[in-house]
Amino acid sequence: MSPEPGEVRELFRSCFGGAADGVWLAPGRANLMGEHTDYNEGYVLPFALGQGIVAAAARRADRRLVLCSAQEPGGPADVALDGLAPGQVTGWAAYPAGVAWALAAAGYEVPGACIAIDSDLPAGAGLSSSAALECATALALTELAGLAVDRRELAAIARRAENHFVGVPSGIMDQSASLLARRGHALLLDCRSLETSQVPFDPGASGAGLLLINTRAGHELTAGEYGRRRAECEQAARLLGVPSLRYLTDVAELDRLTDPVLRRRARHVITDDQRVLDVVALLRSAAGDVYAGIGWLLTQAHRSLRDDFEISWPQADMAVDEALAAGALGARMIGGGFGGSVLALVRADAADQVRAAVANAFARRSWTAPEFGEAAPSASARRLGLQCVLVARRMQCGYVMRRHGSRARSPNCGTRFTASPR
Ligand code: GLA
Repeated sequence: MSPEPGEVRELFRSCFGGAADGVWLAPGRANLMGEHTDYNEGYVLPFALGQGIVAAAARRADRRLVLCSAQEPGGPADVALDGLAPGQVTGWAAYPAGVAWALAAAGYEVPGACIAIDSDLPAGAGLSSSAALECATALALTELAGLAVDRRELAAIARRAENHFVGVPSGIMDQSASLLARRGHALLLDCRSLETSQVPFDPGASGAGLLLINTRAGHELTAGEYGRRRAECEQAARLLGVPSLRYLTDVAELDRLTDPVLRRRARHVITDDQRVLDVVALLRSAAGDVYAGIGWLLTQAHRSLRDDFEISWPQADMAVDEALAAGALGARMIGGGFGGSVLALVRADAADQVRAAVANAFARRSWTAPEFGEAAPSASARRLGLQCVLVARRMQCGYVMRRHGSRARSPNCGTRFTASPR
């Protein structure tokens, strides 16, 4: 999976009339466990998806960032890098522009660049297309400039772009998953210390699989509701006299909260933190049926997100119930909530049954048909290189991962149009 690098190079050519210096891929993420725990300094356990965002990019001689996207037909966005400030760029271009702004704010010299974007991550599906866009841009800009930026720092910079330039008060999970995850692993991230560890995670080897169900229910409410949940968690921590909810492990301590809503919100965070550690313990154990245990925890997490954190939505609840009834080991909504996707853990021989049960349930209610995909723990963001090999006396070329980026060569890419700021 992941979008065709050849196509994004073509898009680059048609937008800018020249060749890109390179193509960078940043994956979306699914989160195995730990939802709304990141901004509470807790634990998360995401993994990178095979699906993602590709950015074909080249340096410009001037101080402008010019962007076009296969998914946004409204013409290129042209951003002046000097004097760039939050509020100046809106819409999808605010994410890459925000990355340029955050890199500069961190003291890096950001070059002018042309960037063409393509994606096979459905927007609004809760699979972190925004973080993937930030991370693809961050890698492209830093490698074009020959800057060596540690990936943890790059994740923090991409998050700052989202928080302070775009204005979404999200945590550090999505950017970390896109930049730090490893194929065949889930990434355990302690959002207080920012320590990470790679946890081997290969359900396929045990005859299980992860089914992604895009419920295709929009999440317009997310921004406001997300911020409200965050504020409620912070208020609960304040009332309990701790710097963040991460400092609590015993739900009995929540009896001190008189507000039942704050008590429920905090209970979700404390129990989800524990579920992350429980999943990690299962994955690291040599126990027999690890996946039955993980499935059970997934379903517990869904109930907590539905009843305590109150961020689930009817299509997600239905998809979880139908998947379980059709034999899934466990299922839950993932991401910020109020729309997006469900992740179901399913034995290979039950996958067709689960898909059919969910699709039928949606059809019975005349809901937009769900989309099914595979969630395979995949590699993190990287540069894709064009490599040619001689096979049976014919040259065959394909894109492969390159370990080291090369320096940009082409200085002129934005000569075909005069774009206006947006
Ligand atoms: C969104 C945010 C993340 C995280 C999740 C919920 O994806 O970007 O930081 O808070 O929601 O777990």
